Amino acid sequence: QRPILRLLSCPGTVAEDLRRDEQPSGSVETGFEDKIPRKRFSEMQNERREQAQRTVLIRCPEKISENKFLKYLSQHGPINNHFFYESFGLYAVVEFCRKESVGSLQNGTRTPSMAMETAIPFRSRFLSLKLKNQTSEQSCIQLSDQLPPSNRKLCELLCYAESMDDQLNTLLKEFQLTEENTKLRYLTCSLIEDIAAAYFPDCVVRPFGSSVNTFGKLGCDLDMFLDLDETRNLSTHKTSGNFLTEFQVKNVPSERIATQKILSVIGECLDHFGPGCVGVQKILNARCPLVRFSHQASGFQCDLTTNNRIALTSSELLYIYGTLDSRVRALVFGIRCWARAHSLTSSIPGAWITNFSLTMMVIFFLQRRSPPILPTLDSLKTLADAEDKCTIEGNNCTFVRDLSRIKPSGNTETLELLLKEFFEYFGNFAFNKNSINIRQGREQNKPDSSPLYIQNPFETSLNISKNVSQSQLQKFVDLAQESAWVLQQKDTDRLSVSNNQPWGLAAILLPTVPNRRSFTKKKRKRSANESVRNLLESLKSNRTANFTETNEK
Ligand code: CTP
Ligand code: MG
Repeated sequence: QRPILRLLSCPGTVAEDLRRDEQPSGSVETGFEDKIPRKRFSEMQNERREQAQRTVLIRCPEKISENKFLKYLSQHGPINNHFFYESFGLYAVVEFCRKESVGSLQNGTRTPSMAMETAIPFRSRFLSLKLKNQTSEQSCIQLSDQLPPSNRKLCELLCYAESMDDQLNTLLKEFQLTEENTKLRYLTCSLIEDIAAAYFPDCVVRPFGSSVNTFGKLGCDLDMFLDLDETRNLSTHKTSGNFLTEFQVKNVPSERIATQKILSVIGECLDHFGPGCVGVQKILNARCPLVRFSHQASGFQCDLTTNNRIALTSSELLYIYGTLDSRVRALVFGIRCWARAHSLTSSIPGAWITNFSLTMMVIFFLQRRSPPILPTLDSLKTLADAEDKCTIEGNNCTFVRDLSRIKPSGNTETLELLLKEFFEYFGNFAFNKNSINIRQGREQNKPDSSPLYIQNPFETSLNISKNVSQSQLQKFVDLAQESAWVLQQKDTDRLSVSNNQPWGLAAILLPTVPNRRSFTKKKRKRSANESVRNLLESLKSNRTANFTETNEK
């Protein structure tokens, strides 16, 4: 037990955080923390999408009275929910109770006229609020934070935690997407959907990836899927009589070309008419063609794809895994932050491990515990009912969607033990001959010579970590071994706590710790060639990381 006096001597920021966290009111409800959401993924997505459709994004004057602001907007109907945030200016997200209120507000909104430039008229739900008379309004609004904590604050929080389990849970709490950030992500998709609807009126733009799979960190990108199934399926309505009607359409030689053509026009549209969409890049020759852009007002880096339903299904699978046991997300966040801190991951594509691969590795590791903490995908398939049956592009994507049908694990291992064992496990994994496979939950022989082979759970002939180079994998293994070693030095670390030194999780999130020297000495046996190669690689990725660090929010 650490003395309670330490709390009094801790820096103001931490003390304030601790006090704030004690208060039940005003604390951010994440929906994941206290209660396990038992909602199906599709239910959750539909609810959030419907909320987003009743919501507007408003750029506000710097000084604004919250009461007057709400009174003004309530003329159009009752407001269900609102919050303010800052992102190179002050913004408000306002969710009305009824969708009609949005139309009423838009009806009273004009297109700006400018002296030097010409506005392209486009009636979106992204508005600007101007003060008619430049009265000096009192600004006393509370801002919702859309950013993760600074390294300094995080280090303080971790050092004052009671145990490593406490540290991992603190990390999760600080980095997970807040309720407001999640709302902003769904709203951004909804705003993009309005633009894409100019071409495809029945389209749906759905978020996928870490924004919705329970593993998203504040600041992560926003993956969007342009779903045209409604447009396609409208023709399947049954009619009586001996005729059936089909739309006259343009034909192209392949699904890939259709995807490229669709994304190309949507990309143009976002670039020319999308309010707040900047830096639009069409990356149409990638394996999975996409349009990448920045949504300035929300601050999200967005990747828009179409014909990518399997990725949405794997997000649903991860959502289930993240929801089943509270240890899963804490461990994944710990590993994601650890990997980021050591530049094992980067927001720039390259030969490094991705967060998606790391999450798969954690899931696989938890399936390998005894008793298992997570079920295999094959066992989730056996629990499926008729409603869950699903085949996408010839791939079997059947698994149980109803969370209450999955039996909780009897495993009671602590997070501390699991983190140490994770590093031990992958520090000694036979990557040269084995692949990782969450469908069966056991290692299999690698089908090819890729350094890291993680089978795609649905497109089973694909390796999700095909991009990873041997030297990046070696860096991961070295760091896993080193972190396992650092965490074993429990006694030394407990002593260092009294000197305000980082301990436990904080110690392995730091790039260098003096007492690692003895571990490093042991590693000197490695061949000179390999060391030089790793050094070059790490210098290269550090440079990239520094660059991305400044670019990431
Ligand atoms: N995906 C996939 N196969 C890959 C890469 C990605 O199926 N080789 C899918 C996964 O469903 C993944 C989603 O695409 O969740 C988005 O990819 P990405 O943005 O790279 O990963 P995230 O899980 O969103 O993680 P991050 O927070 O790093 O964005
Ligand atoms: Mg992503």
